[in-house]
Amino acid sequence: MAKVLVTGGCGFIGTNLLKYILANRPDWEVVNLDLLTYAGNLENTLELEKLYPQRYSFVRADIADAETIDTVFQEHAFDLVMNLAAESHVDRSIENAGVFIRTNVLGVQVLLDAAVKYSVKKFLHVSTDEVYGSLGSEGRFREDLPLAPNSPYSASKAAADLLVRAYIKTYGLDAVITRCSNNYGPYQFPEKLIPLMVVNAYHERELPVYGDGKNVRDWIYVEDHCRGIVMVAEQGECGEIYNMGGDAEKENIQIVRSILGHLGKTDDLIRYVKDRPGHDFRYAMDFSKIESELGWSPEYDFTGGISRTIDWYLNNKPWWERILSGDYQNYYERMYANR
Ligand code: NAD
Ligand code: DAU
Repeated sequence: MAKVLVTGGCGFIGTNLLKYILANRPDWEVVNLDLLTYAGNLENTLELEKLYPQRYSFVRADIADAETIDTVFQEHAFDLVMNLAAESHVDRSIENAGVFIRTNVLGVQVLLDAAVKYSVKKFLHVSTDEVYGSLGSEGRFREDLPLAPNSPYSASKAAADLLVRAYIKTYGLDAVITRCSNNYGPYQFPEKLIPLMVVNAYHERELPVYGDGKNVRDWIYVEDHCRGIVMVAEQGECGEIYNMGGDAEKENIQIVRSILGHLGKTDDLIRYVKDRPGHDFRYAMDFSKIESELGWSPEYDFTGGISRTIDWYLNNKPWWERILSGDYQNYYERMYANR
C-alpha cells in the first residue's frame, strides 16, 4: 500500500484527482489535507469517506503551518506527496497578493522541508502554464522557456517551481513538476470563467467578458489533467517538468457563446467589461514531451467535454447554490463539531 498525501483535495482539481486516484489506484491510501479556504468545499469529498473508509481520510490544515505539517508527515510516513493546495484565482491575486505568497510560496517551502525531513520518495508539484507568461498569436509554451509570470498569482507559482528545483539540487529530493493549461469540468468554483458564465446564463444575468473577449486559453478536461498527474507521479523523471494541455485553443468569447448556445440563451446577455490588469493574451501548450516520454495525451475533445461540463452544472444546481449562498462553508463545523 502506497501512502499518498494530496493537498488541496477539496478544490476543483483536487476533488477530481482524489476521485480518479481512489477509483484507479486500489493500492493507494490517500490523505487529503486542505485548509478549506473559500475555494475548498468539504461536501465535494464527502462520498469518498463513505466509499473508501480504509483508504481515504481528511485533515484540515494549512500547508504554511510548519508545526502541523511536521506532525502530519511524522504520523503518516508518506511515500508520495502531490501538492495542489494553492490560491488559484488571478483576479483575487490582483486584489490581495499577500495570501498568494503565503500559501503558494511559503506553503510549498514548508511541504518541501517536511518531504526532505521524512524522506518522501516522490514529491509532485502541480504548477501552471501561467508561469511562462503570455504568447502572441504564434507559438506554444515549451518546458525549456524562461519563466515570465505577469500576475501575482503566476509569480507566486513560478517562485514555488524554483523552490522545488532548489530542493532537488540542494537536498536531493526526488521531485517533479507539472504545468497545465486551463482546466474545465465538474466542481470548479463558480467565479472562474466557465462555471460563472453557466450560472449567469442560467439566471439570465449579464455575462461579464473582460476586454474584447479575444484572449485565448487552451482548455483541458480536468480528468485528462488528473490522469497525467498520476502518470507523472509514477513515471516522471526527477527534476523534470511536464507540460499538459488540451489542444483546444479558444477565445473567451467563443466559450461564452457556446455556453449561451447550449442553454438556448441569446448573445444579448454578453457585457464587455474593463479588462483584467496585465491580462495575458494567449496560452498554448506544447505537450510533446509528456506524449513521447510517458505516452500521455488528452482524451476528451472540447465539444464533448464542454457539453458534458455544462450539463454537470445544470444537473447539480444545489451544489453551486450552496456555494453562492455561503452554506458550504458551515459544513465543516456541522460535520465535525461533535466528533
Ligand atoms: P482551487 O482554488 O479550486 O482549489 C485550491 C484548494 O487548495 C482549495 O481546496 C483550498 O481550500 C486549498 N488551499 C488553499 N490554501 C491552502 C493552504 N494554505 N493550505 C491547505 N490548503 C489550501 O484550485 P484548482 O483550480 O483546483 O487548482 C489546483 C492546483 O492546480 C493549483 O496549484 C493551481 O495553481 C493548479 N492549476 C490549476 C489550473 C486550473 O485551470 N484550475 C490549471 C493549471 C494548474
Ligand atoms: O492557465 C491555467 C490557469 O487557468 C490556472 O493556473 C489558474 O489557477 C486558473 O484560475 C486559470 O486562470 P485564468 O485566469 O485563465 O482563468 P479564469 O477562469 O479566471 O479566466 C479565464 C479567461 O476568462 C481569462 O482570459 C479571463 C477571462 N474572464 C474571466 C472571468 C472570471 C472573463 O472574461 N470574465 C470573467 O468574469
